This record gives sequence, C-alpha cells and structure tokens, in this order.
Amino acid sequence: MSSGHTDPLGDLQRTEYCGNLRPQHVGQEMTVMGWVDRRRDLGGLIFIDLRDREGVVQVVVNPDQTELLEKSRRLRSEYVLAVTGKVVERSEDTVNPEIATGKVEIQAESIHLLATSKTPPFPINKEAATAEENRLRHRYLDLRRPRLQRNIRLRHQVCMAVRNHLDTQGFLEIETPFLTKSTPEGARDYLVPSRIYPGEFYALPQSPQIFKQLLMISGFDKYFQIVRCFRDEDLRADRQPEFTQVDIEMSFPQEGTVFSVVESLLREVFALNGISVPDQVPRMSYQEAIRRFGTDHPDTRFALELVDLSEPFQETPFQVFRTILKAGGSVKGICVPGAGSFSRRELDELTEFVGNFGARALSWIRRSQSGLGSSFPRVVPVGELERAAELAELTEGELLLILAGEHRVVHDGLAALRSHLAERLDLLPEDEHRFVWISEFPLLEWDEKEGRFFSLHHPFTSPTDESLGLLESDPARVRARAYDIVLNGLEIGGGSIRIHNPAVQRQVFQALGIADDEAEQRFGFLLEALQYGAPPHGGIALGLDRIMMLLAGEPSIREVIAFPKTARAQDLMCGAPSPVKQQQLKELFLKILG
Ligand code: AMO
Repeated sequence: MSSGHTDPLGDLQRTEYCGNLRPQHVGQEMTVMGWVDRRRDLGGLIFIDLRDREGVVQVVVNPDQTELLEKSRRLRSEYVLAVTGKVVERSEDTVNPEIATGKVEIQAESIHLLATSKTPPFPINKEAATAEENRLRHRYLDLRRPRLQRNIRLRHQVCMAVRNHLDTQGFLEIETPFLTKSTPEGARDYLVPSRIYPGEFYALPQSPQIFKQLLMISGFDKYFQIVRCFRDEDLRADRQPEFTQVDIEMSFPQEGTVFSVVESLLREVFALNGISVPDQVPRMSYQEAIRRFGTDHPDTRFALELVDLSEPFQETPFQVFRTILKAGGSVKGICVPGAGSFSRRELDELTEFVGNFGARALSWIRRSQSGLGSSFPRVVPVGELERAAELAELTEGELLLILAGEHRVVHDGLAALRSHLAERLDLLPEDEHRFVWISEFPLLEWDEKEGRFFSLHHPFTSPTDESLGLLESDPARVRARAYDIVLNGLEIGGGSIRIHNPAVQRQVFQALGIADDEAEQRFGFLLEALQYGAPPHGGIALGLDRIMMLLAGEPSIREVIAFPKTARAQDLMCGAPSPVKQQQLKELFLKILG
C-alpha cells in the first residue's frame, strides 16, 4: 500500500545499519534503512548506494526484477528507503576497498520508499566547498554530511569519557541553575526578564562559578558538570555566545591536585583521536610567557621568541625609540627565518597587520652578503643595529622585525605577528599538540580607561599567601593562585584556588573598587555562605568546544557544535534572535526604545 508517493514503515524492522554489513553477514536476509547516496543506472542493472550514520552499502537491483527496477528508476539522492534483501559477496573485480562494506552488497528483494527529498542545496555525499552561511541555514543537512557526523559523534564520545573518568575519580555531576543572578566574569550577561517581578531580570550564567563554590561549602567535595555557559561578547572562530564547559571543583586541593585531575582527564579525551598528552604537562609562569611569547596563551610549537632590544637603543639618536624607552616602554623583536627576502609590499602588509594591535610602525633589520640592511633612518649608528642583530642572533636570510612602544602594544603586536608568520611561512608542525600550564598570574590588572583594577580571572580567585599583604599597599604586585591550560596557543581551560575566607573576599572586593554595600547586594549570599565553614577549595573549567575543535583538527568551534551561531551571534536556521509579539512584551512590562 502506498500513501501519496511513499510507502508506510508499517512493522518493518531494521536488522542492521548499512555501514555495518560485512562478509560475516553473507547469506543472511537483512533489512537496512537509510538515504540514497547515489544511484547508478547501468541500463538493465541498478546500483543504489544507501547511507546511514555508520556508512554506505551497495544495493543491487537485477535486470529480471522488472517492478523493482521501475521503482528504483524513480529514486533520487536523499530519498529515504528501507531495503530488504540477501547479503552477497562481491566478485573479486567489483570489491571496493574504499569503503568498509566494500566486500559485500545487498541483492534487493523489496524496496520501501519511506520519504522523498527535494534536491539539497549542497551535495551531501561529498565535501564540496559550500558557503558557511548556506551550511548554517540548512544545518540539519550539513549535519548529515560525513565531516559533521564524525565530529558530533566524537563529541559524544568525549562527553562519555569525561563523565566516566570523573565518576571513577569520585566526582559527582550536579546541575546548577540557568535562570540566575549575574556573576560577573568580564563579559556582558544575557538577561531574561521576569514576568512575575516587573522590571526584574534573571541572568543566564556566564559560568556556574559561585554555585560550584557553594557546593563545596555544602560538602559535596568533588563536583563536575558539562554545562552550557552564556556570554554576550565579541565573537571569533574560537568563541560562541553559548558554549560548553567541563566545570570542575574540589575541596582541599593544591594547584597540583587540580593539574593532575585535568591531565589525566585530558589524556583519556585526547586518546580518542590518538593524541597523547605528556605525563607532566610543562609549566610556565605568566611572566615568562609574556617575556618569551608576548602572550599568556603561547603557541609553543614553534620558536620565533621575542628578544628584548632595549639595551642597544638606550641612548640612540633615533628619537622615537629613545623617547619610548625613556618613558618606560619597550623595544622588542622577533627573528624570522626565510623572511629576509620579503618585498617592500610584504613588509607594508606586516606593518598594516601590527597596526591592528595599536603599533604605529614596524622596524626591521636584515642581513645579506653585503651586510646589514634596515628600515631605520641614517641617524641610527650601525653599531646599534649590529648589537640588536647580535642579540637576536640574526643570520643571513633572516628578518628581524622590531616593535617599540608601550609594553602591551609591543607584546600584543609581536605575539600576533608570531602566529601570523608561523602560519604564512609554514612553520607549524602538523599533528603536533603542545600543552602548557600558565600560572603565577597577577591577581589584578589596572584598566587605564576605567581608572580601576579588574580581576585577571574573577574576583573569587585567591591571592598567594606571600603576596596577600600587598593587597592594599601595592595591588598590582599581588599574585593569584590562578592557572590556565593552553594547547597550541589556545586557552582550553582556566581556574584557580578560591578565596574561602570571607574577610579576604571582602578585601579583594575593596581592591576592585566594589564598595561594601554593593558587595553585599551582589554577592551577599556568597559572603554569608563563606562564614559557615567554607573548606579551602579550587577548580577549573575546560572549554569543551575548543578542546573538540583541536581534537577534531577543525579551524573553528562551529564545526564541532551541532547548532552553532554565526560570528554575528545569529542562528540562521531558525532565525534567532527575532522580534516578539507586542503581547509578549506587554506581559513582561517591556517597551522597545527607538
Ligand atoms: P573562563 O572564563 O576562563 O573561566 O572559561 C573557561 C574556559 O571556557 C572557554 N571559553 C569559551 N569557549 C567558547 N566560547 C566562549 N565565548 C568562551 N569563553 C570561555 C575557554 C576558557 O578557558 N568560572 C571560571 C573557571 C574557574 O575558575 O573554575 C571560568 O569560567 O576555553
């Protein structure tokens, strides 16, 4: 019986996935269900490649099956079928070594057409280049393609591994609220208006930070959660407005306790794609990372390390550099192999590139057979250039690129230049995974524009015992018990030992310019909870999407999230965000301005 153009599923049952058929099934009658990947009509003989999540199997319709042949001729790509037939061995000359089912095929005995399909907006059965916008608009079809099938399945395996591993280590998975009060972590909150309390709002959590600390006060001792977090911030390839953390907290840990939990967890996770995590992930202080790489999330797969060149230019007649150095700024460079022959245009492009990071100019020195060449004006004595070249160990064919200015501008510019050039000059070793722990961060960072200190991590991070005394006298020198884990230049996790003493928490709020009454109003519940026997505690949150991206070898986290947003925070498929009905706004006591 057929209804419309299709047949009902009725009581048909699948006996095996298409992609799982093997020579061991030869001789058996099987029913498979899936999508038409390809149909080839060889006159009297029709081949249908049928695809499901496990792979593709070849279905054969023979010339003597007149009715089936007729039906098969009407099949198009992406039609959904149930095929029943005998699994047979392929003759030696027709074996297809490219696919796992390539030694067998199904001799069709019946074909049920369960659904037809419009022509898809892009091919499903091959990885043809497709504009991302088009992919996102039809994400359900994009997800049907092998690449995303692989990534989303890997993500499931990672989540299972995380849960199993942390469970065996005694961690309990506990859910925390999504409708909550804002906990500042540096980004804007997504707000949810309350209907019952006009003019009041919930905030979607930027992370479960305070809740996990409260769970330690509650005595759960070891907590984890695979949890969605929401941040309204500028997006990039490695950021989404909603993203997933593997959030971890424990009582009575030292930094090393957290490190070993994370290292053993990452070992299990990365093994899923054959990537090994070293027995002990190397550790580097924040100071060292900035000094050598200009950033606290260095890519340690390649060198191009920063060289301090302030010494040769201390008394230089070149006024720009002299002024910068006298004002306490820095002059630093990187020595780039193979770049000595860069053209004027290429150098101009690099200057423009560092301009994006606030650098006004890019100077350079290069060594050729005839001696040193440089971008410096004639007033700069050759001796100064020689000394800079010597410090940077500049050899023939290399290019020494130099930035001068405020520390932050020099570091940001050179750090970005380092990564940019490594990619451009193919200095990135393939399949290499370099993990590094960064620690000994400053607790606070001065914000020139706002004229106040901000937490480098968040306000619940504990200062080190030794530097706590500086909190009032010299806040910038207070060190945090914070740590980040970095893989190939990407921060994949961050955490800290927390403040468990309410007096210290108040002191830190004060250093951040949060007055007592404001602290009370925003964090009163935490300050109170800390007074009821808060154990020393600490933890970390790992960025699951970023880990998945690196694990799957993808260039963006959008490739490892089933339904991601665009870089402009839109869901192109369902069209979010979208206006709502006037009535809904009214119920929420909201009015749109402008
Ligand atoms: P943090 O803000 O460092 O720490 O976040 C932890 C990790 O989450 C990932 N991450 C993101 N991934 C995708 N898109 C984003 N917009 C995004 N923002 C952050 C990063 C980052 O390392 N509560 C603290 C953790 C703690 O102290 O335990 C926190 O959220 O990989």
